[in-house]
Amino acid sequence: MNKKTVLITGVSRGIGKATAVKFLEEGWNVIGTYFNSEENAKELTKLYPDIKTYKCDSRDEKSIKLLIESLPKLDLLINNAGIFRGERVSEMNYLDWKEVIDINLNGMFLMTKYSLPLLRKSEKPVIINISSRVANDSLLGAGYIAYSVSKSAVNTFSKALNIEEEKIKVASFNPEITDTDIFRKTFTKDEQEEVIESNSLRTTSETANEIYDLYKSMLLRI
Ligand SMILES: NC(=O)c1ccc[n+]([C@@H]2O[C@H](COP(=O)([O-])OP(=O)(O)OC[C@H]3O[C@@H](n4cnc5c(N)ncnc54)[C@H](OP(=O)(O)O)[C@@H]3O)[C@@H](O)[C@H]2O)c1
Repeated sequence: MNKKTVLITGVSRGIGKATAVKFLEEGWNVIGTYFNSEENAKELTKLYPDIKTYKCDSRDEKSIKLLIESLPKLDLLINNAGIFRGERVSEMNYLDWKEVIDINLNGMFLMTKYSLPLLRKSEKPVIINISSRVANDSLLGAGYIAYSVSKSAVNTFSKALNIEEEKIKVASFNPEITDTDIFRKTFTKDEQEEVIESNSLRTTSETANEIYDLYKSMLLRI
């Protein structure tokens, strides 16, 4: 059988890891990137023969280009790697602002740019960009402006690329609050309790299932 191939950024932890596992269980070849968490990436490759993981910083154009040019095919790109920083503009230094924009937005641009030639060769090519609900006006709040700005730009990028690329379907996905390091490090203990008690916290596999369902629904539009 001719297996489909997905490239997922940030498979070493959290939503990216669970999404990689979901696609592996659905019979896909998975190419995954990581940056700091090498041991986690190695564990995944030990468990699943159909995943290959590469250390590839989402800000490093040369590594991204080399990685993607080495791939024989690509049917789906999931731009998942991201970071959260919780500072107000008045407290934030320029390097921290740039780091958020570089990883969450510019990294997505680079991955996408270099993936387009391979994706265009796929019969049913799709790109899913992981965004956030805090990009929406109704959830804007104090203290995470760089993150919100990066994610609203991700949403605009998805909409515009959908118009630019005739054959490739592009969408953003806004996860519900999901139990990952971002959640544990961003929310105070009391806030975590509140989310847990309201039953609105998703497991990473629940969010991964939603990403898979979104992919299936996008296929219907091709
Ligand atoms: N958790 C939530 O509630 C939630 C809600 C809305 C949106 N999101 C979005 O969902 C995505 C995944 O978040 P998560 O909660 O799963 O976060 P996470 O557990 O902190 O995982 C982040 C992943 O991104 C990778 N990463 C970070 N910087 C990177 C870089 N420079 N180059 C390559 N990879 C890098 C990390 O790899 P290493 O550890 O190897 O560095 C890790 O695999 C993010 O885009 C986030 O904004 C999450």
